[in-house]
Amino acid sequence: MFGPRKSLGSVTQHAEGQALAKTLSWPHLIALGVGAIVGTGIYTLTGVGAERAGPAVILAFAIAGAVCACAALAYAELATLIPAAGSAYTFSYTALGETLAWVVGWSLILEYSLACSTVAVGWSGYLVGWIQAAGVHLPPELLAGPHGGGIINLPAVVVALSVMGMLVAGTRESATLNIILVVVKLVALGVFVAFALPAFNNANLHPFMPYGFGATEVDGAKRGVMAAAAIVFFAFYGFDAVATSAEEAKNPGRDLTIGIVGSMLVCTLIYMAVAVTAVGALPFLQLANSPEPLALVLRSLGQPTAAHLIALAAVIALPSVILVMMYGQSRIFFTMARDGLLPQSLAVVSKRSGAPTRITLVTGVSIAIVAGIFRLDEIAELANAGTLLAFIAVGACLMILRRRAPEAKRLFRCPQPYLVGTLAILGCLYLLFSLPSATIVRFIIWNLAGLAFYFAYGRRRSALAKG
Ligand code: ALA
Repeated sequence: MFGPRKSLGSVTQHAEGQALAKTLSWPHLIALGVGAIVGTGIYTLTGVGAERAGPAVILAFAIAGAVCACAALAYAELATLIPAAGSAYTFSYTALGETLAWVVGWSLILEYSLACSTVAVGWSGYLVGWIQAAGVHLPPELLAGPHGGGIINLPAVVVALSVMGMLVAGTRESATLNIILVVVKLVALGVFVAFALPAFNNANLHPFMPYGFGATEVDGAKRGVMAAAAIVFFAFYGFDAVATSAEEAKNPGRDLTIGIVGSMLVCTLIYMAVAVTAVGALPFLQLANSPEPLALVLRSLGQPTAAHLIALAAVIALPSVILVMMYGQSRIFFTMARDGLLPQSLAVVSKRSGAPTRITLVTGVSIAIVAGIFRLDEIAELANAGTLLAFIAVGACLMILRRRAPEAKRLFRCPQPYLVGTLAILGCLYLLFSLPSATIVRFIIWNLAGLAFYFAYGRRRSALAKG
């Protein structure tokens, strides 16, 4: 009913010239994970979350983190059971059949590409704040796209294209540089907590939930703790980028488990600390919708040098998030093309770097265009919708494959798989329906367009259907 399924044994065998080089080990993967996870979500969306939930944005981080932890456990098991490129798309191809796998792959395009665009716009916010704090005036029409009241967000376009260039140069070099950027990003968050925590004021936490718990829509904007959770959810994903690189891991069993679960735990702890510090230091309304809320907190506390350093660190390090997400996107496109669902000519691996160059170029240019035109919150919400659907599929794949192939070799076994899988699905559904209705409508349109493409193109050309 849902099209052909890949067998568990077939997903790791590929034609010559279409297999990715095994170059990554666990330090690379944990750096890839933390590199993808800590980014615009904590650096910028903390302000949007505070605007939607008040001080209870802290609770929103906890809820989104708990849902992601369930998805991360499911991912970790599936990534070691099916160590092949494509993450949720490949899992779904094995467990749910081609049609649903296509829907998941199509949604992953939103997750990875729009996450890159979101982070590029967030990066631009910190860069511009940093330059302007130094007293330099920049033409405002080149700092925001038409949806944000300008012509084009030029810094966002430039950063997206630069990262694309790095990826084309080859996975290994990019992953090593990524480790340095991850360190910069984490040290900066440590500096933020160290400087802002002494200003913690209990009064800033009252009222804790000014807009209540459930998401309610007022004038097209959703408010409440769940509305904030649905947006700050963005801050947690990226660990699946590690699963996406399974085919390139030297020792998938050990490396992926440490990479996915480890990076998830580290990030959850960091976010709680940063969120408590931020809303404790300033009344939440001052944080709301700032393009650079962490720098704003420090400046308001009379710490301009620390503010300057945080902004500089964001400018230096946020591109690592784009790097990992763009890497993940190019691998997913690559896998879908190799399967025949997208044009096969895209699935060519460069002999020199072992990376899929052509698809990386297509991905990078599309990401740059979106970043140049749209507003940060709009892009992030749609990215979240795509991710939530993928996580729902992952929860379902975990349970289905446990039933269908209980004896298959799993190097990591998720504890209580039926409970964790069910919680991942229900949690993601709740978050999905807490997004603004406009986002849900855009998401439905995106998927209808995807299905039309599948029935017109991929279904007949599918490598699996042809045998
Ligand atoms: N989790 C990543 C970020 O917050 C996508 O930037």
